[in-house]
Amino acid sequence: MMKNNTHKSINNKTIGVLVSGGDCSGLNLTVRSIVRHAIKTYNWRVIGIQKGYWGIWTRPMQTVDLTIEKCDYRWVTSGGIFLGSNKNIGPPKFADFGKTFPDLNDAFCQGYKALGLDAIIVIGGDGSLRKLAEIHNYQKQKSPDSPLNFLAIPKTIDNDVAYTDLAIGHETALDVVINAIDNLQSTAESHDRVIVVEVMGKDVGHIALKGGIAASADAILIPEIPYDINKLAEHINKIFRKEKQYAIVVVSESIRTPEGKAMKKTIGAKEQERYNGIGAELALILKEKVSAEIRSVSLGHIQRGGTPHIKDRLLAARFGVHAVDLIAKNQFCRVLCVLNGRSGDISIADATSRIQAVDPQGEMVHIARSLGIYVGEL
Ligand code: F6P
Repeated sequence: MMKNNTHKSINNKTIGVLVSGGDCSGLNLTVRSIVRHAIKTYNWRVIGIQKGYWGIWTRPMQTVDLTIEKCDYRWVTSGGIFLGSNKNIGPPKFADFGKTFPDLNDAFCQGYKALGLDAIIVIGGDGSLRKLAEIHNYQKQKSPDSPLNFLAIPKTIDNDVAYTDLAIGHETALDVVINAIDNLQSTAESHDRVIVVEVMGKDVGHIALKGGIAASADAILIPEIPYDINKLAEHINKIFRKEKQYAIVVVSESIRTPEGKAMKKTIGAKEQERYNGIGAELALILKEKVSAEIRSVSLGHIQRGGTPHIKDRLLAARFGVHAVDLIAKNQFCRVLCVLNGRSGDISIADATSRIQAVDPQGEMVHIARSLGIYVGEL
């Protein structure tokens, strides 16, 4: 039966697309794949929701019609997300907003209905997927007969979403890290220095471990494996004695200081605590223990931009097409994934069941150790 909605496209489907959480490279391309497949293959209408969940929580809602013409080549090569995103997915922080919409789950479901959506694709990381599951459960309880038809596409430079080998943005971030370390290797060599490189990774060390191995680091510290500062220093001193006069130490932002302190800083509101500064801190401590000059550099948000790596381009194409095909088959409430090289989809309960961390006994750690890289103490 035709719904009473003036926006409907001729074959009766309107879908929404929303990007939530921290940005990364490959997002524009993911939206582009969705738009092209939805319009070219199915002739659906696609509505982009701006600024993450806030675009559908606020009134008036912030939306934009997405067309083939809008998906030009800039969406293939650019970082960022043209729709905007928002990391604030907790309770409202703006006083007026709180008064107007005390229940954000309800605001979302009402917005979904008001836009005439048949389905919504949320592109997000772990926190955004949890929020989506919460909204879905809310709607299921409130109106069991009109469920929220969602699909989710994992994106995060950290690659910490469970049960997927890859999320959008991770490979490009690795590319940025590898290029940066390549540059640091040469200056470290010129000046006989140790350079400590801090990379992102909220509570997981995938970026540090893979980036460090690929760029031939001498030591890699990740939150999943404890380290001994004296053994690290001895490792570096031994390299200087026996091998070469420079060294690169890659540290994940979320490792603790040798005393066990997390290097978190509050930026603005309390909820905006972020990891920052362990690289500089460790360099100060190591200075007293190694026989070489030492410097530190934090790659920070540089890792979130850049031209998408080929793997992210292909992943964006795969996820976009797969999500639209699932909607065409009326299959909802799934999170897309790549497992053992194959595209697939899993339940949101599985996707949010745990954080995907580095396996301390896994292949990557074994490879690092086999190459003579210090990765801490098991
Ligand atoms: O989760 C992605 C991420 O880039 C983390 O690696 C990092 O800790 C965090 O986001 C930085 O957050 P923000 O963009 O709020 O500074």
